[in-house]
Amino acid sequence: MAIDYNERIPNNVNLSDNRRLQRALEAWQPKYLEWWGDMGPEGFQTDDVYLRTAISVDAKGWAHFGHVKMPDYRWGIFLAEPEQDRRVNFGDHKGEKAWQEVPGEYRGVLRRLIVTQGDTEPASVEQQRLLGKTCPSLYDLRNLFQVNVEEGRHLWAMVYLLDAHFGRDGREEAEALLERRSGDEDKPRILGAFNEKTPDWLSFFMFTFFTDRDGKYQLASLAESGFDPLSRTCRFMLTEEAHHMFVGETGVGRTIQRACDIMNEHKTDDVRAHGGIDLPTIQKYVNFHFSVSEDLFGSEMSTNAANFYTMGLKGRFEETKIDDDHQLKDDTYTVLELAGDGFREVEEAALTVINERLRDDYINDCQKGVDRWNRIIKRAGIDFELKLPHRAFHRQIGTFANVRVSPEGKVVTQAEWDEKHTEWLPSDEDRAYVGSLMHAVTEPGKFANWIAPPARGINNQALDFEYVRFM
Ligand SMILES: [Fe+2]
Ligand SMILES: [Fe+2]
Repeated sequence: MAIDYNERIPNNVNLSDNRRLQRALEAWQPKYLEWWGDMGPEGFQTDDVYLRTAISVDAKGWAHFGHVKMPDYRWGIFLAEPEQDRRVNFGDHKGEKAWQEVPGEYRGVLRRLIVTQGDTEPASVEQQRLLGKTCPSLYDLRNLFQVNVEEGRHLWAMVYLLDAHFGRDGREEAEALLERRSGDEDKPRILGAFNEKTPDWLSFFMFTFFTDRDGKYQLASLAESGFDPLSRTCRFMLTEEAHHMFVGETGVGRTIQRACDIMNEHKTDDVRAHGGIDLPTIQKYVNFHFSVSEDLFGSEMSTNAANFYTMGLKGRFEETKIDDDHQLKDDTYTVLELAGDGFREVEEAALTVINERLRDDYINDCQKGVDRWNRIIKRAGIDFELKLPHRAFHRQIGTFANVRVSPEGKVVTQAEWDEKHTEWLPSDEDRAYVGSLMHAVTEPGKFANWIAPPARGINNQALDFEYVRFM
């Protein structure tokens, strides 16, 4: 399905056939660009960045690479190919034809789901807006901007749904998405993790590994939706999301590689003495970003999540590959709960713990990435293992928010927490140290001392390719 780039708004949804919608989006476009100017990457707006742009939505060759100035990036509306005779695949409407229009009785709920997802997209751009100034290389600078323009496009994806299917309140929500600000006291972004700071590149890589991966799981369960336009939008967004997680995994991996290289080269554990980021500090960043991202899945027990499922609006991860009745009325699912000063597994009604199941899928996926990081350390012959903290560690949402738990999963007193938490989470001093390493390296092919070069360039380009050309 080719994308029409002759239109003011590139799209593969025949936008020109729907004048009302076209007008609504064309009215929103300048406001979006104004937001990008105010809250997008600070600086670099007149530089040429080697970005990929979608040219068609099928698996092969959807990407075109070329130098573009970010404000000229062709943000648009791209839906994955329609599936023939698609059905609602779960919940009370299982087996019905998938909806092309919003079912009236689910209007409010569906709008809320779309707005909540949409809000995370500009939020992360806002969180990352200062990072360009301290990029460890041109390669990394380009990757940051690729992530940023695509998060901008994800906002477009959600705004399209709001404008196309929710009339006036959809338009109002589309405007509000440009008005909230990450970390703002009066008008914060909707979800907690999206109001945290992303002050340095290690945080950025952790964010794209852990928090963009939450995005993957949210999008994947929305891609199962019986509301077909939402499903198709999310399916295409997932292909973009994969690159964000690649940036995170390889970014952290290269930081680990550099720490190991320093340890081996200088026969020392004192990585900081040689300007690297030591593995214990990396572990603390893992603990922080993993726990904050886990909260994004919501409470363990959730009637909302049960309703979204029963209504056919938001499924489980890979719903259609699961071998059960896809209604779950009589099913149970094992979850962890607090029991005295420890934990125990209990069976709960599967419908009410849908969030927890998605969190399980997410944790398993995170673990695979951590295993790959550990292989880097092992290959370097170093005796150290990174670990995901216990799921109850440092939680703000759900039943574990009420207790203090160590990364190993031991319930501790507030006094123990106060004494130990700087061993478990980045301390002010750790953050100051990491911050002190952040200086821009912009010579093609050169990399900051705290991070190893990547294995290969973007789109088969050399490592010393000019990924960003300063004007
Ligand atoms: Fe996104
Ligand atoms: Fe993302």
